[in-house]
Amino acid sequence: MKAYRSAILRFATDSEPRHAAVYESDGLLVVGANAQGTQVVLAVGPYLALKDQFPGVTVEHLPGRIIAPGFVDMHIHFPQTDVIGSPSDGLLPWLEDYTFPEEKRFLAPEYSVQAATFFIAELLRNGVTTALCFATSHPESVNALFAEAQAKNMRLITGLCLMDRNAPVDVLNLAAPDGSNDATEQSLIDTEKLINQWHGKGRLGYAITPRFAPTSSEAQLRGAGELAAKYPDVWIQSHVSENKDEIAWARALFPKSVSYLATYADFGLMRDRAIYAHCIHFDDDDRALMRATGAAAAVSPTSNLFLGSGFFDYAAADRAGFYYGLASDVGGGTSFSPFHTMLAAYYVGREGQTKPGVSLSPQHLWWQHTVGAAQALGLDGRQGRPAVGNLQPGCEADFVVLNPQVTPLLARRTARADSLDELLFAMIVLGDDRLIERTVIY
Ligand code: GUN
Ligand code: ZN
Repeated sequence: MKAYRSAILRFATDSEPRHAAVYESDGLLVVGANAQGTQVVLAVGPYLALKDQFPGVTVEHLPGRIIAPGFVDMHIHFPQTDVIGSPSDGLLPWLEDYTFPEEKRFLAPEYSVQAATFFIAELLRNGVTTALCFATSHPESVNALFAEAQAKNMRLITGLCLMDRNAPVDVLNLAAPDGSNDATEQSLIDTEKLINQWHGKGRLGYAITPRFAPTSSEAQLRGAGELAAKYPDVWIQSHVSENKDEIAWARALFPKSVSYLATYADFGLMRDRAIYAHCIHFDDDDRALMRATGAAAAVSPTSNLFLGSGFFDYAAADRAGFYYGLASDVGGGTSFSPFHTMLAAYYVGREGQTKPGVSLSPQHLWWQHTVGAAQALGLDGRQGRPAVGNLQPGCEADFVVLNPQVTPLLARRTARADSLDELLFAMIVLGDDRLIERTVIY
């Protein structure tokens, strides 16, 4: 058992996201094992009220710092770390010109291993303690990422990228080397093998990962859906409705489905724990389908602004009532930093799809990258496991230590904050990796 004395930011799980933040200016966070041996928050609240309840427990005092939940990134591509900032006219040429050529390199195990080491370190350096990640179509990349996350005891979900058409051959799933299976069949065999090898091992989870409908055959999507039914507690991840050209392409390839999104439902790929990146160019039928199936959107604002894809419609999403949370979508996205992503989400909300847009509150922005994202991933205490991302009693205890004095401007501006919203917004607008003094994984 260990305790930390500091300012503490946590989130109520039953409040409206705009007002969900709970802040102690002098708080105590007590961490220890629950009955199952998982390290969780045992108590949290005002220091003065709690200090005598835990005699003998070591208290680390962090004056001037703020403890906050570790961030949750709902969608990021581990093999695209070195693709960030590649200029392009839009999604499809960007994939062709930069992304697919880079992803080819992950066939080599040593390339995957060094990339995984850097990637996990960079997530943690930026305060991200839970992530849902794309790997490549090579099992080597999946093994490398899981192994590195396991070594750092990080909560990480990933899976083999399924793609069997419409891309260069060396980023497609390859047939079994001995020719015993075709490529599609082999990709599904590899997926099941990786599920059995990694899912539920410590803090790791598996995600069935069709890249997006245009790069999968019907047979591959059908097989992915069958695996999703056979393994109901694994995740599913893909992309949808990001870019107008992509949508036209998906509609031409799957004309029998009533919409691009519905293609995934038609193959059994929409349910709880199914996470779709972008979800920009939806109509209300699509939104109702998200809500009815329990699927969630990974909102990726830096990516959507960088690639000129469009603006997630927050008002329409809230009206429909489906799950969503924030994601960096590196390398379409431009930063690993949750502060950059939250600020971009603010800009996207202001722009909206139909003017005037919404003004997302600082608490709601922070919620979307912590407890809201965890809820969207199903890591919210359902199924009897500890929740993630809120730092309430019983929650998993990963946290960040923020130093609001780290730059002269942050120090000046946060000292002038008159309310919690002002404090949070100053950090969202001015923050980056420097604000994360320490990331503590439990
Ligand atoms: N759609 C299919 N693949 C990708 C990808 O790698 N990044 C983004 N942003 N969209 C995609
Ligand atoms: Zn993506």
